Amino acid sequence: MTDCQGEGIGPVTTMELYEKLTAQGDKVRSLKTAKADKADVDAAIQLLLKLKVDYKGVTGQDYQAGCPPSDMAVSNNRQLGNGGEEDTVDPWNVATNSAKGVDYDKLIVRFGSSKIDQELVDRIEKVSGQKPHHFLRRGIFFSHRDMHQVLDAYEKQKSFYLYTGRGPSSQAMHVGHLIPFVFTKWLQDVFNIPLVIQLTDDEKYLWKDLTLEDCHRFAEENAKDIIACGFDVNKTFIFSDLDYMGSSPEFYRNVVKIQKHVTFNQVKGIFGFSDSDCIGKISFPAIQAAPSFSNSFPQIFKGRKDVQCLIPCAIDQDPYFRMTRDVAPRIGYPKPALLHSTFFPALQGAQTKMSASDANSSIFLTDTPKQIKNKVNKHAFSGGKDTIEEHRQHGGNPDIDVSFMYLTFFMEDDEQLEKIRQDYTSGALLTGELKKMLIDTLQPMITAHQENRKNVTDEMVKQFMTPRPLDFNF
Ligand code: TRP
Repeated sequence: MTDCQGEGIGPVTTMELYEKLTAQGDKVRSLKTAKADKADVDAAIQLLLKLKVDYKGVTGQDYQAGCPPSDMAVSNNRQLGNGGEEDTVDPWNVATNSAKGVDYDKLIVRFGSSKIDQELVDRIEKVSGQKPHHFLRRGIFFSHRDMHQVLDAYEKQKSFYLYTGRGPSSQAMHVGHLIPFVFTKWLQDVFNIPLVIQLTDDEKYLWKDLTLEDCHRFAEENAKDIIACGFDVNKTFIFSDLDYMGSSPEFYRNVVKIQKHVTFNQVKGIFGFSDSDCIGKISFPAIQAAPSFSNSFPQIFKGRKDVQCLIPCAIDQDPYFRMTRDVAPRIGYPKPALLHSTFFPALQGAQTKMSASDANSSIFLTDTPKQIKNKVNKHAFSGGKDTIEEHRQHGGNPDIDVSFMYLTFFMEDDEQLEKIRQDYTSGALLTGELKKMLIDTLQPMITAHQENRKNVTDEMVKQFMTPRPLDFNF
């Protein structure tokens, strides 16, 4: 059996069936358009129906155009044309009609992941011996894949490693960008495990109107902000794709293996690529998948290919890792586990996430205390009432109030936060007062980050970004 054939009715044969079905659907359509002979059209339809029955028999799912089988299958609302009722969540777009933000419970069902429930949070506490991070306690990290397996193995002394990343699209990072890193730092501390951080300067070059030099420079600048989160250089490897891809034969071999096992049809279904997208984009997902496999980093894992990977990321990155998890067993590697976070809302409201290209949608890590104050006061969408009298009488709505949402991310004290929720809901706390609390939380936090970043030297960046063994024995 060659590499490409997979095992029995494995993903490859279902994928072949899927591709046949898609082709047959196209054929029926073109026959109809061409007003072909009725007998020919009927015959083509009969075959299409038969393929659909076969497909359901094998996959247990109804065939849907643009939605390939298995782990990867997720309804892609652009292609299904569902009238825009579903939230849009993919690596490039996040949008919803609801002021409360994306419906994350629905997303779990659509993506086929699992909810991080109280039981899992308690288990993380038990296994790590630490109080769970408030991102876990408050459902900011809300969804996972295979986290129980990771904990089972860890309890049996089988370690794992962390992988996360960032697309360096500009020099300016905002507070939302810190969420995965703050959480990853906590995971690294409580489990004492290696961490690899991918900076996808290649991705940004392919997707944006930027030069290679710009993207690479942004990667190094962003690395400083990441290092400022407090990572330990002896346990952390940060890499730019533009540098590491060319310097690591093992990494590139994994990229090629992945590329061989994913078809154009599959990435079209997952990412919505079209015929006019450049081929760099089409093959990029393999590069984001490769760090999920431990032998991409022989200097850290001594060539071992079986070290379990855990990826903390925002839920919009899940398509990459559905693809990764689908190919993993076919190329002899364990599937990476995942922990997914919700999005950090824009100041203007939770209908979308913050954008680095709109200065007023975000609090940047470079903002001065005064800018923070002005942005919050001017732009933070309020769930309060129009007049003080009305607000006192009816109270505000914290569920759509961006200042309150931000406090759930950054205020560590659960009791204090709960009191604010109650007071705001009852009308005892006014919008201006709530905003002041947020400003008082953000200003020292951003100032501290700026201090930390100032202390990150070019020499330190170089150290973090040099392929080398870490303080772990694999
Ligand atoms: N594609 C991500 C972005 O644009 C960057 C990234 C690469 C990433 N690998 C990752 C994010 C792993 C989370 C986990 O930001």
